[in-house]
Amino acid sequence: MQLITKAPRGTKDILPIECGKWIFLENLLREESENFGFKEIRTPVFEHTELFKRTVGEDTDVVQKEMYTFSDKSGRSITLRPEGTASTARAMLENSLHNGALPIKLSYFSSCYRYEKPQAGRWREFHQFGLEIFGSQSPFADAELINTAISIFKRLGLKNIKLQINTIGCSKCRETYYDELNHYFNFYKDDLCETCLERLKTNPMRILDCKNSSCQKLIKEAPIVIEFLCKECAEHFEFLKKYLTKLQIEYVVNPRIVRGLDYYTKTVFEFVSEELGTQAVVGGGGRYDNLVSQIGGKDIPALGFGIGMERLLLILEKQGISLPSYEPCELYIASAGEEGKIKAFILANQIRQAGIKTECDIVNRTMKSQMKYADKINAKYSIAIGEDEIKDGYAMLKNMETGETRKISIGEDFISSFSKAHVELENGDALLSK
Ligand code: HAM
Repeated sequence: MQLITKAPRGTKDILPIECGKWIFLENLLREESENFGFKEIRTPVFEHTELFKRTVGEDTDVVQKEMYTFSDKSGRSITLRPEGTASTARAMLENSLHNGALPIKLSYFSSCYRYEKPQAGRWREFHQFGLEIFGSQSPFADAELINTAISIFKRLGLKNIKLQINTIGCSKCRETYYDELNHYFNFYKDDLCETCLERLKTNPMRILDCKNSSCQKLIKEAPIVIEFLCKECAEHFEFLKKYLTKLQIEYVVNPRIVRGLDYYTKTVFEFVSEELGTQAVVGGGGRYDNLVSQIGGKDIPALGFGIGMERLLLILEKQGISLPSYEPCELYIASAGEEGKIKAFILANQIRQAGIKTECDIVNRTMKSQMKYADKINAKYSIAIGEDEIKDGYAMLKNMETGETRKISIGEDFISSFSKAHVELENGDALLSK
């Protein structure tokens, strides 16, 4: 087959069998986050570029190297969302949700776009499940948010997902910390990559997220922000640790977590799984107390996290946890002749209304090839309707696996007759052994 083009690099088609699993997973995430009071929000796939520049940060890899940015027909700079937080905060403000009851707890499933080098667990189009809380500065909110993620992992039966936490302080702590960082990195200036040399002037903390190997060596020994916390940030972190312990949530403090986005303040955290290889982080987030005011809103403290759906599915697969996909067709109604086909259509409609997944012929195939098709789609039961069946008002309901049959009415009492025979065939073994 000579296709004129294939799916762009770093993207993939999610085929029906996979989609069934995605839907199951999404519903579970929805249900569990609803238990904690989160309600879903849907925002546009693209936003004005300045939204991400201002929040994610001009000096981040995401903004500098990874955004899909283009001018639309009227010359506005548009960006496909690289993440979900900025859009959610914008939508929350624009629609004045903050004028209602606080805190606001929002959840989302968003496709995201980053021009990264594709590899296992790293895509250019990927999907995030995110939770955001607006309007609480209490460390109880941080603990509750982390607790929601833990509940989700537990409900999925996932093991060995390690929680790492850190605090990166507020602008007050960073005044002294930036001086320390500047001092340190200036000393090793010659070993920094070009991007980090720029970052040294504008935002030295961003150097800590650089992947370049020579910068990495320096980063390992660089001063850590946790040693420069103001009283409030230090207390916040202590309370969070205490609450996590009370909730029996295991964690390790990793003072090297800085996160790849600029908007974080105070708490940051990541969920790490060894099963993911180099892209070990399945989810991450933290507090972003200044983001809402940065985009022109009130001073509303906030926090959240995002889980990569592709990575979550990968871990589930590696841990042998299989998610259910679509159920196969329950009943296939095969037919011959125009009258037979019309009858099949009518019966199919009736039985679907009773909640039974039913298909019938729409290709005008012979009875034999309809039955082959029914086999291929793993239909559990079949009925064949031809001239005789229409004349008699009866047909045979067949269990496609066992070959067992029952005579059923295809007249007025079709549904009740089908249901009775269906139950008998379903419980065939049980009935026989009585
Ligand atoms: P993030 O750490 O950049 O945070 O992304 C969150 C998750 O998205 C990652 O842990 C990972 O599972 C997944 N992810 C990121 N990039 C890719 C990729 N290229 N391919 C596949 N999966 C990927 C955020 O985006 C923040 N908005 C999270 C947050 C919400 N913070 C506060 N609220």
